[in-house]
Amino acid sequence: MNKTGRMSVPNGFLALIVVFIFIAGIATMLVSGHNISSKPPTNSTPVPRKNDSTDILADIDSRAVSPNAFEETNNLPDGYRLITVLNEDVYKGPLVLVNYAYESKIDGENLVNLYDNVSSSVGVKDNDMFINNSVLEPINNFFDGFKSVKGSTTILISSSYRSKNDQVEIYENSVKDTGAKSTAYYVAVPGYSEHQTGYCFDTAAINYNGEMVELDGEGDFSWLSDNCADYGFILRYPQSKTNITGIGYESWHFRYVGIPHSYFIKKNNICFEEYIMGLKKYTFDDGGLLIDNGDKGKWVVFYVPKLDAFNNTDIPVPIDSAKTPYTVSGNNIDGFIVTVDVTNDPSNALLSKAAADWSYDNSEIIIKDFVDYDLLNDVSEEEDDDSDSDDTERGEQRDNNDDWEDDSFWDENDESRFEYVDYYDEYDGSYSAGDSSEAYNQDGDNTYYQNDDYADGEGDYQ
Ligand code: DAL
Ligand code: ZN
Repeated sequence: MNKTGRMSVPNGFLALIVVFIFIAGIATMLVSGHNISSKPPTNSTPVPRKNDSTDILADIDSRAVSPNAFEETNNLPDGYRLITVLNEDVYKGPLVLVNYAYESKIDGENLVNLYDNVSSSVGVKDNDMFINNSVLEPINNFFDGFKSVKGSTTILISSSYRSKNDQVEIYENSVKDTGAKSTAYYVAVPGYSEHQTGYCFDTAAINYNGEMVELDGEGDFSWLSDNCADYGFILRYPQSKTNITGIGYESWHFRYVGIPHSYFIKKNNICFEEYIMGLKKYTFDDGGLLIDNGDKGKWVVFYVPKLDAFNNTDIPVPIDSAKTPYTVSGNNIDGFIVTVDVTNDPSNALLSKAAADWSYDNSEIIIKDFVDYDLLNDVSEEEDDDSDSDDTERGEQRDNNDDWEDDSFWDENDESRFEYVDYYDEYDGSYSAGDSSEAYNQDGDNTYYQNDDYADGEGDYQ
């Protein structure tokens, strides 16, 4: 045999063995339940690492621009680029709408202790209260403002961040103390309270006996609702919007949304629900919404729906963030709200397209007849024993509302809208004999912390 001949025999033999091993391998995989096609597909779209920060922007610039950048990449106006945010960030930021329909998906991120950090103008009920860190400075400024105008500190923060369990306690005590109807009117179902976000707080007044009393928003206290917008706050549950918020008038509850949103909400006499829903019409492609507050600044605000097909969404933002600062917040529903400060950027590309007028038909979200009953006259002792009819009344009023423009949008939340009914029923009759006042008055001795003009020398003042 020649060399080639001698070599060709073992090569052919080896080839046969390789083919045999290959076929045997496949047979083994099939028998053992594996399938070649079960191999994970190669994913050419890298998923950004999980964002540990609750500040959406804190980590944003370190993420690569998504390879799934959508078509706008080529149509971005001068001065804009795309950044990528995680879709889960929809549930974070100062513009999250939390109400009976939209659960808080976060549990008070980036919390800081109030007692340890507030300025000398701010009284706090106790030293175990927390707030989102971005709200700290606005609170200090807000209370400093009140003190500088009114001369003294006769208000304090009586409640701020509340965990879901805190809300359970408050809810149960409220049902026990005031009945189901009053509770439905003033207390959010656990999980659906914006206190859980850490972006709001309640104020209380201190009377001349050093007692904490409800802040009625009248007299000197009207300064708070009149001026809160200058500090980024809104009165979250106004008298004129109870049929939309689903919550009775709360003169004491302030929500941080940030400037310029607070300006706009106040100026246009809208509530947070109307603002967040209405903003959906103001997209980047359409130029967004112009908020022009004269000497105080000029902003363009636009909405970017999250891309459901991906884990992340590309968002157009100004390239020069020093000249044109911007923020991004989730809306807690389905997208992001970008706020661009164009005060120092008069040639910003969005200014030629942004709409200066607010146009929104709130009949889309009005909860008809929700407050048709006279709460004050209607709440009675018997009500405590009649939770089903009370709860059903509220439920039916909402349920009968067929005016939603986009029914599917709200219907998908039907369960949550009525969850409080289940919640109440579940807990009805199962209350412990504990002291219901504990939820709001842990000290029980009217002891207040931090620069309390009426400090009584008791408790922590000893
Ligand atoms: N009092 C407000 C609505 C809450 O319970 O969150
Ligand atoms: Zn509150």
